[in-house]
Amino acid sequence: MSLPLRPPLSLGLGSLLLLLLLLLLATTAYSQTDGCSADPSSVLPLAYNTSQLACRPIWNNFILRYSQSEDHVLTIVLSTVYTVGWVGMGFSKDGSMIGSSAMVGWIGKTGRPHIQPFYLGGQSTKEVVVSESHLLTTSIPPVVVVYMAHIHLAFQLKFSAPVTKQELLFAFGTSIPVKNRLKKHSDRTSINFDFSAGTSSASAYPYQLKKTHGVLNIFGWGVLLPIGAIIARYCKQKDPLWYYLHGVIQFIGFFIGLAGVVAGIALYDKLHANVSAHRGLGIFILVLGILQVLAIFLRPDKDSKIRRYWNWYHHWVGRTALFLAVVNIFLGIQVGGTSDSWKVGYSVNLAVLFVTAVILEVFLWTRWSKKTVDPPTF
Ligand code: HEM
Ligand code: HEM
Repeated sequence: MSLPLRPPLSLGLGSLLLLLLLLLLATTAYSQTDGCSADPSSVLPLAYNTSQLACRPIWNNFILRYSQSEDHVLTIVLSTVYTVGWVGMGFSKDGSMIGSSAMVGWIGKTGRPHIQPFYLGGQSTKEVVVSESHLLTTSIPPVVVVYMAHIHLAFQLKFSAPVTKQELLFAFGTSIPVKNRLKKHSDRTSINFDFSAGTSSASAYPYQLKKTHGVLNIFGWGVLLPIGAIIARYCKQKDPLWYYLHGVIQFIGFFIGLAGVVAGIALYDKLHANVSAHRGLGIFILVLGILQVLAIFLRPDKDSKIRRYWNWYHHWVGRTALFLAVVNIFLGIQVGGTSDSWKVGYSVNLAVLFVTAVILEVFLWTRWSKKTVDPPTF
């Protein structure tokens, strides 16, 4: 028995229309659950009636709803897309995490909702601790609800004066906290929010300065200056080209490194970070760099008797500075808590420089043993 043939076009067109309709419905439904148009009031206690709150999209998928009463009570409902892990909102003096307090919410392994005030004493798991005393809540208990793939953290905070411009922190982590211990965030930001005008602006936290400081120092002390040193040691047969290249590269490298240290001093003024080893080493490296540049002007003649000592001095001060710069770059990446990509990128650069130097050193010694070049200097 043969089946009746249906015209393929009508099936295609019908399904296409149906598909389009479904897509349209899905997007409308999504847009209603996304942003300020979705109202989570129905799933929150009456005290957090979100229709009475002002609403602002704040960062990523984070939506901030808030109101402030005459007696300086802030009612906050923070909503964002949620699958697993924790979501937090912090209050900071200057946009930095250290010394701030945050309300953090999550759904535990067994499905139990948790919302807790934390004190962020430092940037390690053990320094981020539950503390009732740093954020003053009211008699209305904080709640956390997950509804339609969104998490809503609702809480009230009591302040002693009207809250206007405030540095807010937002962060989320993807691992579920155990015993109120958080693991580091997957992403975070600081925002300066004006609760009276409902506007937000860039935080006072010097994100850009920190990056500039790291990039300038890595490029100056970690890339250009070692390349200049490699040229000076291994390209002497190309006289006087090696000399000019070395001079120009070290000059540029030194000024980029100097700018990096100046940025470091400005960063330290803003953050007052506890980075004494990194700071001290950075200033010492800069002093060695200045000595290297000054030495150029005090260089004795090639045939002078004391030229040997000058060479010895210039080479060893230079090598010490470069070695300490490697240490300080890793130290800086450590104290700055920069993502692992910095560590990986710099390590690759270091490995390439190191392998190149080893290969060229072997060449130098073999050529010297064949007496085609002068003995390598130290
Ligand atoms: C145990 C939990 C936490 C750990 C281990 C941790 C660790 C860190 C580290 C290492 C940094 C510097 C590197 C970077 O910028 O990524 C940092 C920065 C930051 N964290 Fe956290 N954090 C935790 C919890 C939180 C919470 C709960 C918030 C806010 C709700 C937060 C907000 C921030 C912000 C805004 C920054 C950038 C500003 C700054 O460096 O001070 N952190 N955190
Ligand atoms: C050769 C000199 C130096 C090198 C190679 C160096 C390198 C670095 C690097 C790679 C970072 C990480 C940057 C980032 O997270 O984006 C960093 C962070 C930092 N450096 Fe330096 N630095 C030097 C000198 C200095 C000096 C002299 C100071 C202060 C006077 C300083 C203060 C800081 C501060 C405050 C941070 C951020 C720490 C934090 O986030 O808590 N650095 N440095």
